[in-house]
Amino acid sequence: MKFIPSLLLILTMNLVQAQNKTLNLIPQPVEIKQNSGSFTLTESATVGFNKPESREIALMLVQKLNTPTGFGIKAVQGNKTTIQLNLNAVPDQVLGKEGYTLVSTSKGISITANQPAGLYYGMQTLIQLLPKEIENKNVVKTKWTIPAVKITDYPRFGWRGLMLDVSRHFFTKEDVKLYIDEMARLKFNTFHWHLTDDEGWRIEIKSLPKLTEVGAWRVQRYGHFGDRDFPKPGEKATDGGFYTQDDIREVIKYAAERNITIVPEIDVPGHSMAAIASYPELSCKKDTNTFVSPGCGFSEWYGNNTFKMNVENALNPSDENVYVFLDKVFTEVAALFPGKYIHVGGDECYKGYWAQDEGCQDLMKKLGIRHVEDLQGYFMNRVEEILKAKGKKLIGWDEILDGGISPEATVMSWRGIKGGIEAARLGHDVVMTPTTFAYLDYTQGDRTVDPPIYAGLRLNKCYSFEPVPDGVDAKYILGGQGNLWTEQVATLRYAQYMTFPRAWALAEVYWSPKESKNWNNFTKRVENQFERSDVAEINYSKAIYDAIVKAGLKDGKLTVTMESELPDLEIYYTIDDAMPDKFTAKYTQPIELPYGPITLRVITYRDGKPIGHLITLKREELERRAGN
Ligand code: ACM
Repeated sequence: MKFIPSLLLILTMNLVQAQNKTLNLIPQPVEIKQNSGSFTLTESATVGFNKPESREIALMLVQKLNTPTGFGIKAVQGNKTTIQLNLNAVPDQVLGKEGYTLVSTSKGISITANQPAGLYYGMQTLIQLLPKEIENKNVVKTKWTIPAVKITDYPRFGWRGLMLDVSRHFFTKEDVKLYIDEMARLKFNTFHWHLTDDEGWRIEIKSLPKLTEVGAWRVQRYGHFGDRDFPKPGEKATDGGFYTQDDIREVIKYAAERNITIVPEIDVPGHSMAAIASYPELSCKKDTNTFVSPGCGFSEWYGNNTFKMNVENALNPSDENVYVFLDKVFTEVAALFPGKYIHVGGDECYKGYWAQDEGCQDLMKKLGIRHVEDLQGYFMNRVEEILKAKGKKLIGWDEILDGGISPEATVMSWRGIKGGIEAARLGHDVVMTPTTFAYLDYTQGDRTVDPPIYAGLRLNKCYSFEPVPDGVDAKYILGGQGNLWTEQVATLRYAQYMTFPRAWALAEVYWSPKESKNWNNFTKRVENQFERSDVAEINYSKAIYDAIVKAGLKDGKLTVTMESELPDLEIYYTIDDAMPDKFTAKYTQPIELPYGPITLRVITYRDGKPIGHLITLKREELERRAGN
């Protein structure tokens, strides 16, 4: 008899543990109640919706369920189905525009929301609750079970975005749709489409055909951006592409069906070399030899955001024809994109050619402007007038604050968070997208393993981002984004590698309650998403399994420290030209590197098995890291 109470205790504990099992959801919902039991999807299931507005979502769900199960589940309007999608007759104040509740029991599943967007997100949660095989493109045999839960969920921020730069490398509309699919799975609702830059103009403007006849094409070059050769005389520009207006409409519709608004970016007055190559008269020098940049080093960077452009890439703010040009561009852009925002860039505009231009000097005199920098304020205000006349709101990079902009303009803070703080102080709406937390082009692992870019950004740094800075009124912070610049990203597979898992962290930063943040719990869910992504054939970086190797100088000695983003990794190393494994030295504390031409080799293990990349660092690289 004595063992019975302890047996009961063990049984009860098992039940509690089962109930508190981590549900592998990203982003983490606001509230999860786990109940005992589960629901198993079978062939006899039906998907129902109570209002015709939800039909499209029901059809998407049916397609997603039928693909790997091979079932013939149907979507029907009605009330008594297995998976019921219901729109509330009376809005639930807690759920707002995008929230939902999801209840699963052994009998079935119900998702309830105020608007179709909420049902769409409830559907994404349901898909993540199903086994990973749900991501299969072919029929697979498994038990399609989900745990019994009650989830109440809604986003922290209304702007949850990713930006894709399609100028530095062109991505086809099919690529863009696949990128949008992944965004939708993570409950992102804003796709910032960086459509123009020095390296290519990607949107058809019917009244300005040369923008795509000339501006969408550059000479073929490979290699590190900025180190590539300039075009040679007579060399054909064959690399590039653009979206026709029909393509754009198709992508907008596709995104809208996935609750994603597209914010198009036309980057002016700087970053405009492709436009100037098409229409040289838009610049100060009007040089007809201006080309679309293939990623050659036409700029010089001096730190602290100071730079010089050796090829003119800014529109001339003193020329009225430039505003006629912009009016044509924005007339067509505004007619295509139904969203209220148009992004007008404004970043990194070099004013050296303006300073030497007679027209600009006359304009400065006329306006009483002493510093050429402030001409950008004049330009941006003219652009804003154009947008307002078309019923659109201006959003731009934080440089739009320089020289003054109307309080209605929305500021995208990218040079850290200071632009966002300043903008909010001035009463602007702000979207937070600082390089320090949200730049997805930065290297995510060791720069000797991942193709190096000029800066690094680890997953845990992304996850630690708090978009509302201390002392800032949260009402001004619309939300945030991750930005994928593609100077070094030529394919969709690699775009995925750069985006994930960091965009999973940002999805959670922008959706989930601040209080629910928990790195260790998040990384468990990340590892589950790795498995799901493998099934879905989505690429991602495994840099979290690698050692982080830092070097410093202590008492004149080169000292190496190693750590990992995951708490349960063991780090092994060698300095004797042997390959490291779990029988070589285990890292426990900073090591002093002995004198000599030493190579440090580092590997990580978990549960007795190697897991990370081998990192090989010569003394010179360690000295570089130490700042020598
Ligand atoms: C930017 O990264 N130039 C906005």
